[in-house]
Amino acid sequence: MAMNNDNILEVRDLRISFGTYAGEVQAVRGVSFDLRRRETLAIVGESGSGKSVTAKSLMRLLPEANTIFKGGEAIFDGRDLLKLSEKQMQRVRGPKIAMVFQDPMTSLDPTMKVGNQISESLRKHLGMSRAKARERSVELLKLVGIPNAEERVKQYPHQFSGGMRQRVVIAIALACEPQILIADEPTTALDVTIQAQILDLLRELQEKIGTSVILITHDLGVVASVADRIAVMYAGKIVEMGTVRETFYDPQMPYTWGLLASIPLPTADRSQDLIPIPGSPPDMSDPPKGCPFTARCPYAMRVCPTEFPEYTTFSAEHKAACWLHHPMAPNVEPPARVGGTR
Ligand SMILES: Nc1ncnc2c1ncn2[C@@H]1O[C@H](COP(=O)(O)OP(=O)(O)OP(=O)(O)O)[C@@H](O)[C@H]1O
Ligand SMILES: [Mg+2]
Repeated sequence: MAMNNDNILEVRDLRISFGTYAGEVQAVRGVSFDLRRRETLAIVGESGSGKSVTAKSLMRLLPEANTIFKGGEAIFDGRDLLKLSEKQMQRVRGPKIAMVFQDPMTSLDPTMKVGNQISESLRKHLGMSRAKARERSVELLKLVGIPNAEERVKQYPHQFSGGMRQRVVIAIALACEPQILIADEPTTALDVTIQAQILDLLRELQEKIGTSVILITHDLGVVASVADRIAVMYAGKIVEMGTVRETFYDPQMPYTWGLLASIPLPTADRSQDLIPIPGSPPDMSDPPKGCPFTARCPYAMRVCPTEFPEYTTFSAEHKAACWLHHPMAPNVEPPARVGGTR
């Protein structure tokens, strides 16, 4: 399949639902994005916006029992990931595309020494000998900044702190030097200092290995320093996308304004309170026909609830879906709190 050579992954019109007792939950409703070689793309948005479902669908990790694949494609290496057999997928998951989750214990085996967990992946995917894999495991623990790596490989996950455990998970994820690393809230469970260390580490390793990273977080503050581009998700759709600069300094729709107003500014003037976005996201078993942010949007117009807005493009990278950019819409400035980041 033809693909732009700058891209390692092209996701087109991804749509995923779940069958539940409450009806069909439309978790992802037409998501499209490219992932460039060696970039970090952050996917941000409130809880339930479809970030994890998007990521897990690429890894084909969604529960078979109730996932309803409604359409779309995800082209990687000339093949549509969404159409691969489980057997083909096993050769992608791990060596080519790896994933790091919020809770490191979900990806570590508590009964197995950390070194063996890393070696296993190296032996399985790269065919390394036992001795070579053991040696490489120590190197990898050093690479992710774990002191006393020679001793640490012989320990079990519970002997590591939360931050150190997440480093181990990153070591496992990067062991086979994957082309794509998907990190889903990799630092949420950790305290702020460790968070920063882990994010710096990801960035450093990415540069060394040349991996493309999809970084999922609901914390816009976290992405400012590590991401190249941001996709803002709301109710199963990407509502704004652009470089970090564009999205932070020139956000183009009220949901992004709201997200930005709810993070601390780098020039922390703590007298200015953070303003959470009032209201809650729509029920995804019956999502609104139009712009899903309408009910919470201070600028909503008559057209908003009835039709989803087309994307307006502001630069080669920057686009947003909002009726405020329609030529007939009134001219609205972002609130001062957001304007202040300009
Ligand atoms: N297995 C499932 N069965 C039914 N509904 C699901 C399932 N997995 C996810 N959902 C629903 O899909 C929607 C999107 O969930 P998702 O986990 O992608 O959100 P998220 O953006 O990752 O949120 P968070 O920031 O809380 O991790 C939610 O409404 C969620 O309840
Ligand atoms: Mg999630």
